[in-house]
Amino acid sequence: MKIESLYSPHKAAMRDLISAIHDQIGLLPQFYWPADMLGAEMATAEAVGIFEGEELAGFILYREVPGAWEISLVATHPKFQRRGLMEKLIQHLIAAKGQRRELWLEVHESNHSAQKLYEKLGFKLTGRRPRYYKDGATALLYSCP
Ligand SMILES: CC(C)(COP(=O)(O)OP(=O)(O)OC[C@H]1O[C@@H](n2cnc3c(N)ncnc32)[C@H](O)[C@@H]1OP(=O)(O)O)[C@@H](O)C(=O)NCCC(=O)NCCS
Repeated sequence: MKIESLYSPHKAAMRDLISAIHDQIGLLPQFYWPADMLGAEMATAEAVGIFEGEELAGFILYREVPGAWEISLVATHPKFQRRGLMEKLIQHLIAAKGQRRELWLEVHESNHSAQKLYEKLGFKLTGRRPRYYKDGATALLYSCP
């Protein structure tokens, strides 16, 4: 297992990983990353990935905002899920952000596995955005100090 920053040469592997998740669960509002949206996000966000051997097993997209890093996407390939990899990758980001930044993210109210993950890592629920998603669902805002 290794953790590395991701760049343009990794974009195909990131796309393939997201496709594998959509093949598994469909293009749901809980995780809605069609190719055009993913491409736009990858073009402007920072990326960090976790590898099993040479294979990209999971990655995070995030961006710098005043006082924080805001996470926009968190994904583990279905065949590598529930092995503690995303927990390790987020812990890496928590260590890398240092004391002066927070980590922020938002999650669909129905995405219970992601909520459990964030809560296990010490994220706190800091707010709600009603009707934020296209299905009318609420976004839950989480922060890690
Ligand atoms: C959410 C997701 C990133 C978790 O990745 P992962 O590598 O499987 O997570 P980990 O194995 O590190 O799990 C760590 C903890 O998260 C929670 N968790 C993860 N998957 C879970 C699930 N399916 N059900 C319940 N809790 C879950 C658990 O607390 C788990 O700890 P435990 O195994 O000791 O119980 C992964 O399921 C995924 O890619 N889902 C689809 C994309 C998505 O919804 N992303 C989040 C919104 S952007």
